[in-house]
Amino acid sequence: MNWFILLSIIFFSVFQDGNCCMKFKRSSDDCKCPDIFDHLATISSKDDVLYTEEGGCVYNITCRVHFETILAFKLADSEILFPEDNNSDWARLHAGEEEGSSVDIFSLFGMICENNGWYITKYPSGIEYFSKNCNCYPFIGVGGEYDGKKSKLDEFDW
Ligand SMILES: *[C@@H]1O[C@H](CO)[C@@H](O)[C@H](O)[C@H]1NC(C)=O
Ligand SMILES: *[C@@H]1O[C@H](CO)[C@@H](O)[C@H](O)[C@H]1NC(C)=O
Repeated sequence: MNWFILLSIIFFSVFQDGNCCMKFKRSSDDCKCPDIFDHLATISSKDDVLYTEEGGCVYNITCRVHFETILAFKLADSEILFPEDNNSDWARLHAGEEEGSSVDIFSLFGMICENNGWYITKYPSGIEYFSKNCNCYPFIGVGGEYDGKKSKLDEFDW
């Protein structure tokens, strides 16, 4: 009886240790950034996309384009200098591809992991911001002029 309990405890702690090691190994080997899906808008579901983790902070997040396939970032968290008429804390990026087509938004927007955060480095369809002059949402950089500049990903949605 006592032996049985003792063996159970030993077995249980070894088993627990095994799990801990596996978890530790994975997180130290792989990406050091927080889960990119923490940035997914609450109205979207992770089940709606095909995604694969390719190791070393590289993902393939493939989804079908619809009018709401967008990424948002804060102007203050970007290297991009916005026009003087900017009047909102946020800017948005659209997938831009034809509706219904499949697109890997991870590579399309050149997402990278740096300093424990996710950054956008490509702006294939330009950047939409709010202008107080026209009270509308114009685009800048539609020719990819801002490619290479970093903007911290705030939220993505599809
Ligand atoms: C990303 O995943 C999609 C869907 O599984 C696939 O069609 C596409 O080829 C992948 N892209 C890359 C660059 O591996
Ligand atoms: C937004 O415009 C203001 C001037 O109205 C400017 O000072 C600020 O730098 C602009 N913000 C960005 C992120 O470019």
